[in-house]
Amino acid sequence: MKKAYRFSIGGICFLTILLAFFVSLSGQSSINRLVITGFKVSPPGDREHSPRLPGDEPTKTTGREAEQELAFTLVVNKKHHLTAEYIPPDLTVPKVPFSFTEDLPKKRMRKEAAEALEELFDAARREGIELVGVSAYRSYERQAEIFAYNARQRGEEVANQVSARPGESEHQTGLAIDVSCASVKYQLIEEFGETKEGKWLADHAAEYGFIIRYPKGKEEITGYQYEPWHLRYVGRQAAQRIKEEGITLEEYVGFK
Ligand code: DAL
Ligand code: ZN
Repeated sequence: MKKAYRFSIGGICFLTILLAFFVSLSGQSSINRLVITGFKVSPPGDREHSPRLPGDEPTKTTGREAEQELAFTLVVNKKHHLTAEYIPPDLTVPKVPFSFTEDLPKKRMRKEAAEALEELFDAARREGIELVGVSAYRSYERQAEIFAYNARQRGEEVANQVSARPGESEHQTGLAIDVSCASVKYQLIEEFGETKEGKWLADHAAEYGFIIRYPKGKEEITGYQYEPWHLRYVGRQAAQRIKEEGITLEEYVGFK
């Protein structure tokens, strides 16, 4: 009888601990879940190249600010992939001019990035600079079609210098947008970087939380050729530091 009593006490303790464990898991923030479920985490031993997860490293910021910083500085590249299932939350159409009129998914961005883009384009317009959105959010499936098309045209290796494989494109995060201007006929070409619009963007994007994600001279780190048109929202604090120090997002988060 005494023995049975001890067993039932032990059983209750075990169940309580188990319950507490599951409650603590379900209490994680949505950003935390978003990061973990959206990534293929690198295998153990590749710690240097694992995605930085909330709570993984000390940051200079605290609370809500730190959570946002972590969410918006997510690295998606040839080593850190998104799963096919990942769809960003709060996708919305920024109120800015686009190079096409149809209501396509490629007009959408995550809400905070969309609002920052509106501020960026408004500031440009006040200085006589007319920027135009060309392509923002792309699903995993859409990126697969684009990459397959580019690979057929140029071969996989050459295509992959300018076009991401599915799961490896920042466009799937809803935090990236390609922009251009009328003088280069809204094309995504290197000459855009030499236009007054491209130069203004390189000078001012960081004030609104955006970086030129694939800069000249950093191809070895980013894995892609120079793209003066590809903006990535990372938040103002990160963008300003990345610009001031002339580094990439990979270097900012400590992956390189
Ligand atoms: N052009 C960039 C690398 C992309 O395809 O996401
Ligand atoms: Zn792009």
